[in-house]
Amino acid sequence: MTGVATTRAELAAARAGLSAPVVLVPTMGALHSGHRSLLQQASEIAGTSGSVVVTIFVNPRQFGPNEDLDRYPRTLDDDLALCAEEGVALVFAPAVREIYPADPLVTVDPGPAGQVLEGEFRPGFFGGVLTVVLKLFALTRPDVAVFGQKDAQQLALVRQMSADFNLGVEVIPVPTFRDPDGLAASSRNRYLSGAERAVALTLPTALQAGLAEAKEGPLAVLAAARALLDPAPLVLDYLALVDAQTFAPAGAAFTGTALLLVAARVGSTRLIDNVIVGFGDSVERGN
Ligand code: PAJ
Repeated sequence: MTGVATTRAELAAARAGLSAPVVLVPTMGALHSGHRSLLQQASEIAGTSGSVVVTIFVNPRQFGPNEDLDRYPRTLDDDLALCAEEGVALVFAPAVREIYPADPLVTVDPGPAGQVLEGEFRPGFFGGVLTVVLKLFALTRPDVAVFGQKDAQQLALVRQMSADFNLGVEVIPVPTFRDPDGLAASSRNRYLSGAERAVALTLPTALQAGLAEAKEGPLAVLAAARALLDPAPLVLDYLALVDAQTFAPAGAAFTGTALLLVAARVGSTRLIDNVIVGFGDSVERGN
């Protein structure tokens, strides 16, 4: 039976009864197949003795003034049903005042890797994400937390925060879950019309075209992806190839594991996607 807590007090009471390892899946709800794959991975990590905890909280502090906070989808009943199906032990779905009784005066600075790419196009975004994730870690006290590769920069920053602040939470990545047509599952995909979805598919197609050039080196990867994105009727925020650890640009001579990342607006919907690209002896690739 999935328990539901909406206040910090209820969470604390329910948390005390959970058996270890406690595996946390932080979400903003509107759960879809991508989230489901995180829940399944979390269940595997928890094993028969452990417990999966899901948080559902649309965090106002990670939305800019012109972003979609008000129209962000909220589907709590469906979300709870999905969590029950996946054997989640506890869902924490707090109201905003429960997480922010007052505006926090101390917040997390995401550091240099938080200033580029998503951090450049969404000022304040990663500060908001890391602040709420730190609060959710403190409230749920997990042994392990799973995050999707879909949000690669977020995953890297959460992992870095856990290490830098000695939080003792092991951050485990889950590969990007894609719909059969190749589009990465996202809560925002429901905004896309049929025609817009066809345009949105340029993102994974361009990433795959880039990946296919990995043997030719970083410049060829970028050129192949750009050749598909440039003519498409979308507004490209960025296409970038970066070192997967530091998020510094991966230049012509780069060897090791890189990320090819794209962000674009299709109509009024903003989408992001990425693939892992290995150069040189590194063979890690895909997603
Ligand atoms: P949200 O967008 O709901 O995503 C919750 C988790 O699901 C994140 O770790 C995200 O990377 C993962 N996810 C989303 N789509 C995915 C897909 N197609 N494949 C694999 N994983 C996917 O990310 C957030 O919420 C928030 O920023 C949060 C971390 C909860 C902080 O507010």
